[in-house]
Amino acid sequence: MCGIIGIAGINNENVVNHIISGLEKLEYRGYDSAGIAVVQEGRIEKLRAVGKLQNLKTKLKNNPLSGGIGIGHTRWATHGKPTENNAHPIASEGVAVVHNGIIENYKELKFDLQKDGFIFETETDTEAIAHLLQREVNNGLSPRQAFQKVLGLIEGSYAIAAIFSSFPDVMMAARHRSPLAVGFGKYVCLGSDVSSISAICSDVVYLEDGEWVEIAHGRASFFDKNSNPIKPTKQKISDDLINTGKGEYAHYMLKEIMEQPSAIRRTILYNRIGGEIFHNVSRILILACGTSYYAGMVAKYWFEKFLKIPTDVEIASEYRYRTPIIGPNTLAIAITQSGETIDTLEALEYVRKNSNSKVAAVANVKNSAISRVSDFVFYTEAGVEIGVASTKAFTAQLVILAGIAFRNHEFLTREFQNLPSICEEALDLCDDIKGLAPKISTANSAIYLGRGPLYPIALEGALKLKEISYIHAEGFAAGEMKHGPIALIDDDIPVICLCPHNELFEKTASNIQVALARGKNIIIFTDLSGSELLPPETTKIILPRIHTEFTPIMYAIPLQLLAYYVALLRGADVDKPRNLAKSVTVE
Ligand code: M6R
Repeated sequence: MCGIIGIAGINNENVVNHIISGLEKLEYRGYDSAGIAVVQEGRIEKLRAVGKLQNLKTKLKNNPLSGGIGIGHTRWATHGKPTENNAHPIASEGVAVVHNGIIENYKELKFDLQKDGFIFETETDTEAIAHLLQREVNNGLSPRQAFQKVLGLIEGSYAIAAIFSSFPDVMMAARHRSPLAVGFGKYVCLGSDVSSISAICSDVVYLEDGEWVEIAHGRASFFDKNSNPIKPTKQKISDDLINTGKGEYAHYMLKEIMEQPSAIRRTILYNRIGGEIFHNVSRILILACGTSYYAGMVAKYWFEKFLKIPTDVEIASEYRYRTPIIGPNTLAIAITQSGETIDTLEALEYVRKNSNSKVAAVANVKNSAISRVSDFVFYTEAGVEIGVASTKAFTAQLVILAGIAFRNHEFLTREFQNLPSICEEALDLCDDIKGLAPKISTANSAIYLGRGPLYPIALEGALKLKEISYIHAEGFAAGEMKHGPIALIDDDIPVICLCPHNELFEKTASNIQVALARGKNIIIFTDLSGSELLPPETTKIILPRIHTEFTPIMYAIPLQLLAYYVALLRGADVDKPRNLAKSVTVE
């Protein structure tokens, strides 16, 4: 949700190309607009463009910028339309600011600043920060003093970086509820994620909430939320945080789908689920959003069946705004790819404030905010996920959750070892799945059906299709269809059914018959023995046989491929679907 970068060079060496390379890595966080600002001969020079980063690059070719210190931004619009005028960096007279987050009290700040004669030229909340800094610099404060003062005035969530025309060697930055890393190498850099600066930095400091930094003359000075100087420990940037590009693949999403066997293998290998997290636990509360929420829904089936612990799964953005009762001995589990989703983070804080519950996180991004506030962390070893539609992180989440559920069931623990190779077999079917895409790509709407733990997979399949192809899609519990959704079925609507030959097969098969009596575009994902018993007038993809408890993991994969190929046929931008951003750090 917006990506920010800042680079303070040495000897006035031009840093513009490095900023652009960093923005390329951050584009997954937002692509409504992009911009860059540098200090050039005592002036702030900026260039911004609406839409994807490519538009900014094209503009830069005709209007080259050069500067030894600079900031850049990729925007996911919150306050103000995605216009060039609202694109960051946002400048006051001699200050330029990039911001990720929301300044909640910007209206009051704006009112005050207007009284002081500041003219607002954008619809953004960020403009208040730029003018506040300008006002304090005009009052004679140094960038450090001005920044400290402004941090005391703004409320909300932010990662901010600022540069100053009169202080060409200074860059200020702060973090509160939006991620920001400070990198060290030849340059001192700022980045919303480590990938964006890993090409030029070897070590990193993750700012904690409330911390801020002054980068002056190539040196970084850190301060805590009370503005006391601190000396955070630098960490080496590890390889698994680095985005290594798309490789041979046309899209990150396809690469990430194909990486699932190895992501699953690594996740199984690196996670040993000890018994300590269940000490005194009589209830589990799962908090998550989007795809991660669907992983939580699958976990509920597993946890109640194998751990025999009652489990609630809650949409994080809803949970914190009702008055939920957290019973004694509850273990809260947050599931999150990014580890930054503000809804999930806030829901966890609600749990912290209102109970003594322990908190565990299943997260993909190491050192992310949610992993840092949790008592236990299980990292999915999916590697960096760039495609906005989550794929390998989802199946890796399921692997962790299955590991938790099955940990005392030796047979299932052994079966785990077969999962990566069976997923490889499922991926081998990608041409068959590609062949299905024309059956869906012209539809206005699609229905996904599943039962048991495959019901959340139906929801996830529908979400994938919606997100990247913009076809309206809904997932239903197959048995629920007759209670209403069946009215939607006609010859045109594709009905995608998940029907392995398991203990629920007969039930799902009769739901399929009911759908077939009303429509003719029925697509079934099943296995060999199931396929022989299912109606011949349907289209079937025969998936490898797998132990029934692992079907949610393996059946997710063909649905990802299906959404991918449908989106391709519709000419959609698969990795950067409209209106979305990878990490959602606003409520
Ligand atoms: O990073 P998180 O797992 O917390 O993100 C939650 C959702 O925003 C995310 O899963 C979203 O639904 C994805 N776009 C799904 O593909």
